[in-house]
Amino acid sequence: MTTHSEQAPRPRRATPEAQPEGVPELRDVEQHLITPAAPAIGRVVETRICTASKKAAGFVRHVSIDVSGTELAGRFRAGQSFGVVPPGLTDRGRPHKLRLYSIASPTRGEDGQGQVLATTVKRTIEEHWDDHTLLLGVASNFLCDLHPGAEVAITGPAGKRFVLPKDPGAHDYVFFATGTGVAPFRSMLLEMLGDPGGPCPSKITLVMGAPYATDLIYHQELTALSQTHPNFTYLTAISRERQDDVDRKLYVQGRLETHAEHFGGLLASQRTLIYVCGIAGMELGVFQGLASLLDAEGLDQYLRGEPEVMGDASAWERRMIPRQLRPTKRVMLEVY
Ligand code: A2P
Repeated sequence: MTTHSEQAPRPRRATPEAQPEGVPELRDVEQHLITPAAPAIGRVVETRICTASKKAAGFVRHVSIDVSGTELAGRFRAGQSFGVVPPGLTDRGRPHKLRLYSIASPTRGEDGQGQVLATTVKRTIEEHWDDHTLLLGVASNFLCDLHPGAEVAITGPAGKRFVLPKDPGAHDYVFFATGTGVAPFRSMLLEMLGDPGGPCPSKITLVMGAPYATDLIYHQELTALSQTHPNFTYLTAISRERQDDVDRKLYVQGRLETHAEHFGGLLASQRTLIYVCGIAGMELGVFQGLASLLDAEGLDQYLRGEPEVMGDASAWERRMIPRQLRPTKRVMLEVY
């Protein structure tokens, strides 16, 4: 028997950081009901270009998949992802690994019954850096090539942190998206604003970033939602062209500057949560934008760090997240 005095000293755990007011209780969600070892079969029911213009620089499709009869039916939640296992083998003769795609539909699905989910897929078309041959992303091009009726091997759902709170109406929201990072926000917006039980009164602001205005994803749908719901503000940030309202190019964080009053008020509230989804690196710019907009007390609601780090936002680097720059539980990040 080991007496207390004989026990090896326990490794010291860092004391959990006291969190700010307004930390959300996130929804309980199910995960991994369908595993890669035994994927289920879904069937494509719709596929359409979902950029503002069909002549956009990138090819982005809204692909809807009927998952009825699988474990995903009725069990995915807004903000979660699902897996796609591309058919065929890799160059080395192994089966392709699954790729995760954000679900762009609300919990009630595209069909209102949770039987059809949609995702937002951008074709990956690049050049190999070493020999400048064409590189086509396996899963994205597979999905974008599919026609209605085609079968897709699917897994999931996945993700438990990038979801809405149990009581969505208890919070207000600032969403930052770049490119297909808008998918979970379409899902959450339709969940909150299109609820058949009545729209959620929360204040919601989405900042959507794209290279050109033609590349804005779900632009018509989001514009229409903002026109019918005064509590939803939709802002765009175009990175390679001037804006309609500002004579310069903008990344999403630039909207914290051009709309400082709007965001200042929203972010000062203890109800407000920040969600960031999209290109890796955008989270740093958003944090630096927050640091310019908010005073130390305001910033402390969303981001923490030692005083010498917090004092100079211009010296922040991405690798400092999450150890030296620690987002609080009022910030949800999904970057890739
Ligand atoms: P850019 O490529 O002009 O530098 P997409 O996924 O369709 O390519 O869109 C991604 C968008 O995110 C582009 O407008 C891109 O701008 C922008 N972007 C790239 N890096 C960052 C960053 N660090 N912070 C915010 N936005 C970024």
